[in-house]
Amino acid sequence: MRTQVGIIGAGPAGLLLSHLLHLRGISSVVLERRSREYVEQRVRAGVLEQGTVDTLVEAGVGRRLLREGLPHSGIELRYGGAGHRIPFEKLVPGRAITVYGQQEVVKDLIAARLADGGDVRFEVDDVAVHSLEEAPYITFGGERLDCDVIAGCDGFHGVSRPSVPEGVLTAYEREYPFAWLGVLARVAPSAEELIYAQTERGFALHSMRSPEVSRFYLQVPAGEELEAWPDERIWAELKTRLETVPGFTLATGEIFEKGITPLRSFVTEPMQYGRLFLAGDAAHIVPPTGAKGLNLAVADVRVLTEALDRFYADGSTALLDGYSAACLKRVWRAQHFSWWMTTLLHTFDSDDAYARRLQASHLDYVTSSEAAATTLAENYVGLPYE
Ligand code: FAD
Ligand code: DHB
Repeated sequence: MRTQVGIIGAGPAGLLLSHLLHLRGISSVVLERRSREYVEQRVRAGVLEQGTVDTLVEAGVGRRLLREGLPHSGIELRYGGAGHRIPFEKLVPGRAITVYGQQEVVKDLIAARLADGGDVRFEVDDVAVHSLEEAPYITFGGERLDCDVIAGCDGFHGVSRPSVPEGVLTAYEREYPFAWLGVLARVAPSAEELIYAQTERGFALHSMRSPEVSRFYLQVPAGEELEAWPDERIWAELKTRLETVPGFTLATGEIFEKGITPLRSFVTEPMQYGRLFLAGDAAHIVPPTGAKGLNLAVADVRVLTEALDRFYADGSTALLDGYSAACLKRVWRAQHFSWWMTTLLHTFDSDDAYARRLQASHLDYVTSSEAAATTLAENYVGLPYE
């Protein structure tokens, strides 16, 4: 079997790449280890940058997003008994974020690929990549897929990155001594905008998915088990961390989804080797505090699409050769922002009284200086594409 671009992974990166290539007349096959049901139900991100929304809409896969997504023009930072709004409409006019579940993006992309006759294969076993320097091919479940280029869109735990010969890639990483417990609850959001709360007991985030469904996250120790968090404990802890300003009451409801995610920062350099190009979480991870992971995956895929378009138009590998360098500038900006937001808002057990004072002082600065708040806002809504 032969295609132009062999894509491993049907997450947002792999699916969007396949769709954008199709729009340019470039063929691809997507190979996904999990079932369609699994990837469509996997609950993850919720915040789409302006540029991500624009990309999806321009690519013709934004109809439901525009109808059901929840546009937000600000967020609240809550600490020390008060809430402070970061007003995007004032600080970064014309740019906002949209809250729309990642699995809804995935559903929309799968539907579009299948409607266009795209080749997306689920539940494929034993995916492996070969001959990465030239004439690459992918083997899976006893079959062989020859291609010009392989796109490794298989997330942090995929097979693509580990297939690059030793010594070629350099990894930069940081682990954090805490994780996020995330829940979905059948209850109307208790606030109109997202609330990022810093407390002595740890960070909490109030988000949402629809007028009927709320999304919450709690900082918990690294390695924490879900069994330690029965629903009553989750609600009690959310109330303790969020009901810290006068007049705010957290509405509770049925929790129907729970999961724990470790927090990690990771970048591999370069993001390519021979005919293999890594995109999204396969190449980099950010802690979720800045809501950047999915958005970075979209940015990578845009760059890769342009490079492949050029390659097929006139045979030039100039843009493909520069793929990694073109992506890494945004990647490192998002790394810094995500690390910074994480440090600003979480409680580190190792912090002494001095470190806690620094954190409080920085929170005061971000919420009182327009310049500092603008830095937060322009990174949060996403820097424009170059
Ligand atoms: P993935 O979504 O991980 O997709 C990779 C795919 O490859 C998967 O479907 C996987 O099954 C498949 N795969 C893996 N190995 C193989 C194999 N060997 N063979 C075949 N297929 C394989 N980001 C944001 O931008 N905003 C947010 O608000 C946000 N919040 C988050 C909250 C949580 C709790 C979590 C966990 C993440 C959050 N993120 C957020 C990050 C975001 O979810 C990821 O960055 C995003 O999923 C990356 O997409 P991807 O396509 O690169 O990788
Ligand atoms: C959500 C996730 C995030 O990582 C974040 O920073 C804000 C919101 C969410 O899932 O709604």
